[in-house]
Amino acid sequence: MNRSLITGTGSHVPSVILKNQDLEKIVDTNNEWIIARTGIKERRIVDGETTNDIAVKAAKNALKSAGTSPKDIDLIIAGTVTPDMLFPSTACFVQSHIGANRGIAAFDVSAACSGFLYALDVADKYIRAGISKKALVIGVDVFSKIVDWKDRNTCVLFGDGAGAVLLSAEKGKRGILSTHIHADGHYGKMLYAPLSINSSPFHKKSPEHSYMKMQGNELFKIAVRTMGEACQEALEYTGLKAEDISLLIPHQANMRIIKATAERLGLPEEKVYINLDKYGNTSAGSIPLALDEAVKKGTVKSGDIILFVAFGGGLTWASAIVRW
Ligand SMILES: CC(C)(COP(=O)(O)OP(=O)(O)OC[C@H]1O[C@@H](n2cnc3c(N)ncnc32)[C@H](O)[C@@H]1OP(=O)(O)O)[C@@H](O)C(=O)NCCC(=O)NCCS
Repeated sequence: MNRSLITGTGSHVPSVILKNQDLEKIVDTNNEWIIARTGIKERRIVDGETTNDIAVKAAKNALKSAGTSPKDIDLIIAGTVTPDMLFPSTACFVQSHIGANRGIAAFDVSAACSGFLYALDVADKYIRAGISKKALVIGVDVFSKIVDWKDRNTCVLFGDGAGAVLLSAEKGKRGILSTHIHADGHYGKMLYAPLSINSSPFHKKSPEHSYMKMQGNELFKIAVRTMGEACQEALEYTGLKAEDISLLIPHQANMRIIKATAERLGLPEEKVYINLDKYGNTSAGSIPLALDEAVKKGTVKSGDIILFVAFGGGLTWASAIVRW
């Protein structure tokens, strides 16, 4: 059976940097609190660019690093919960703007911060089933457009960003060894962003503002437990041990969640990739952005075992293990 080999990575973040000190001027917060409670120092915020724009840039960078023509792709999946439009999908927009062939499959998946790993799971299954030979998988979010910039509990946490990988069907031992995706809709209201779009004259319910809302404390506890369990599931499925992991690339939501996850696995600091301080929580963009950065820095070497784990609204959680 074919395996999905990651043959290219790419990312894009907007150029505007919003530092903690800038947020002090908008809401009642301070740099020390944000760093101590989250680990975030700054984040990138779009100023003119859209979700589609940054997704296209990340996708083009992934193709360039793979040395692959857009004409060779047969599948595009984008994980996002902040698309520019309800339809067409972000993936369709990317298809037309990178010059991919007409008629290939292109669609989005909605799993909030787990969006990239959900998209990776689906693409991997297409490849293993022999349906796809080259799949472009994107994680992208622009939370700056759904965050309530008057709410200090949430606006300090998020940033905008996109990342992408190119998967190629290959034989051999390298590639994606496992993917697992999960959800529990019973906890949906812990982290959500309503759409207030029903303009029908027959619809009497007054619209809720579309800002995202979050129960931070409760989520924190569930995130620590769930990310730990997701890592264990991936290890058990692949028959690997925690000491076999060369690098953990977790969803970048909060430094304390990341450290707790690493501690549960018994992983030393140097085996955990963190760039949260520079970008904040970029939702579905977070893992592919961190992966691309790690690859460019030379942190990832051929044969390395990489464990990805994510957690997000839905609630959703997911993992993947890759032999690089
Ligand atoms: C949001 C989060 C950072 C808050 O950290 P916390 O240590 O739980 O802080 P609390 O919510 O208990 O608040 C502690 C105090 O800090 C205050 N506070 C909250 N946000 C603040 C801010 N930006 N600046 C300064 N003070 C703040 C609170 O009002 C509270 O004050 P009080 O004690 O006077 O009531 C943390 O709960 C978290 O990261 N949760 C997970 C969120 C997440 O990752 N969501 C995305 C999932 S993908």
